[in-house]
Amino acid sequence: MKITDSYEGTIERTLFTEDEISAAISRLATQIAEDYSGQPLTLLGVLKGALYVIADLARALSAVPGGPSEIIVDYLCVSSYGNSTRSSGEVRLLKDASVQITGRNVVIVEDIVDNGLTLSYLRSLLEERRPASLRSCVLFDKPYHRRIDVPVEYVGLQTPDAFVVGYGLDYQELFRNLPYLAQLRPSAFTEG
Ligand code: PRP
Repeated sequence: MKITDSYEGTIERTLFTEDEISAAISRLATQIAEDYSGQPLTLLGVLKGALYVIADLARALSAVPGGPSEIIVDYLCVSSYGNSTRSSGEVRLLKDASVQITGRNVVIVEDIVDNGLTLSYLRSLLEERRPASLRSCVLFDKPYHRRIDVPVEYVGLQTPDAFVVGYGLDYQELFRNLPYLAQLRPSAFTEG
């Protein structure tokens, strides 16, 4: 039995397959490669959720001819959902980036934007460091409950208004390793 088989009873439906996610990442890579053609680029992945997006996007970018002149991959780690399906509203920086971004072209790479607080917090934090440019790339956009109108220059796929897991996204730290994006059955949630 595969580990992911044990998730099956808890999954309501697949929202995006591995192939659809892969195609979306290729589209994002093409757009970013065109915009930063011949220029150095720093990708900052936002862990834990973006662990697969940053890895796949960085490699997809390398495969586009005429893309950035060099690519630095780094990450930071933030959390605001903890073990809940609801954001605490407070973004905690658990680990900062380890590279200097002053004077650099930076793209923040996120798995999902929902209420927008995480991305807004990160953009403010990173703007203070005076990058040459700062943009955001988000694989999954969930636009229904924005609390802040934060700019997202590169958007992959729009999710339905549901709590989603897989491809890096978790519920109580589980499901990140699903290779596709899924909606959980209501019975999977332990909170009221
Ligand atoms: C998730 C996700 C984004 C953020 C988006 O992170 O990975 O970083 O929430 O939500 P928002 O737009 O409503 O702020 P989470 O806090 O769950 O931490 P994780 O990445 O470690 O799972």
